[in-house]
Amino acid sequence: MDNNASFTTALLRWFAHYGRELPWRGIGDAYGIWVSEVILQQTRIDQGTAYWHRFMQRFPTVEALASASEDEVLRQWQGLGYYSRARNMHVAARQIVEQGGFPRTIEGLRALKGVGDYTAAAVGSMAFNLPAAAVDGNVYRVLARHYGIDVPINTTRGKHSFEELANELLPRDKASDFNQAMMDFGATWCTPRSPRCLDCPVADTCDALRTGRVDQLPVKEKKLKVRERRFSYVYVRHDGMTALHRRPAGDIWQGLWEPLFIEDAPLPDLGCPLTLVASGVKHVLTHRVLLADFYLAEPSSRPDLPPDYIWIKEREIGDYALPRLVIKLIDQL
Ligand code: ADE
Repeated sequence: MDNNASFTTALLRWFAHYGRELPWRGIGDAYGIWVSEVILQQTRIDQGTAYWHRFMQRFPTVEALASASEDEVLRQWQGLGYYSRARNMHVAARQIVEQGGFPRTIEGLRALKGVGDYTAAAVGSMAFNLPAAAVDGNVYRVLARHYGIDVPINTTRGKHSFEELANELLPRDKASDFNQAMMDFGATWCTPRSPRCLDCPVADTCDALRTGRVDQLPVKEKKLKVRERRFSYVYVRHDGMTALHRRPAGDIWQGLWEPLFIEDAPLPDLGCPLTLVASGVKHVLTHRVLLADFYLAEPSSRPDLPPDYIWIKEREIGDYALPRLVIKLIDQL
């Protein structure tokens, strides 16, 4: 057997013993598999599994998801963050229903809103046995170490070379098992900080282990420092009511609701003092760090607010999809 074939065989054998039991494995339902992949893109597996069960209970089929309102979908997503995932998934569900079912090719999957190379390969291989390698962060790490590749993984050149290698290794009749074996192996064995090299099934052929570079691979190119934004929120309370508005298109959290929002502008005059409830609360997103101040205002009459604000009963705030940061702030009231 050549090196590549023995690597693949060893990983598949490892997977048969140590692969994780996940609720969407082996269900053969493209929809459930897709939902799990979208959730797990930015969410840890234990939290993601709980959300998956709830999401599948509320939207058991792609038709159910397609016919729901965007608000309802965002509400189910609340707390997971990265809400464009949910919005895209909702649009894609409508595309799928219009087409009369899930596309069964990589190109067809790739044409769905929000579905990139990784998700198309993951769903295609697991639901339809399409021979496409799904390359996520775990796979980069396993390959970079085993094959001693120091091309930065966050560059176009890096992405291409890792995808090419993964597709060479992929056994065409076992794409589903191979993809999941790589992901599980990366997640539980070949981990970022404490890899289990002592009982690694491919230690014999691991370049990083041989050359003492396990803790140096994979390589990432340093990106510019993330930009900071300063948000202020004023929670306006009057007569058991509070004011919210929906975040507009073209910025983070599009379509989610929030209290009176101020950025790069003085605080408004609401005819009453503003009580500082929390200051400099840090919230980290992928390309941004947000620092938020949170105020409470209790005016004696309803103040004039910009026209996109609506007044709701405070006890009904749970009916609105709010960004996690806002939930964190309101919890402090
Ligand atoms: N992470 C995302 N999708 C996964 C899958 N199908 N198996 C293991 N880990 C994953």
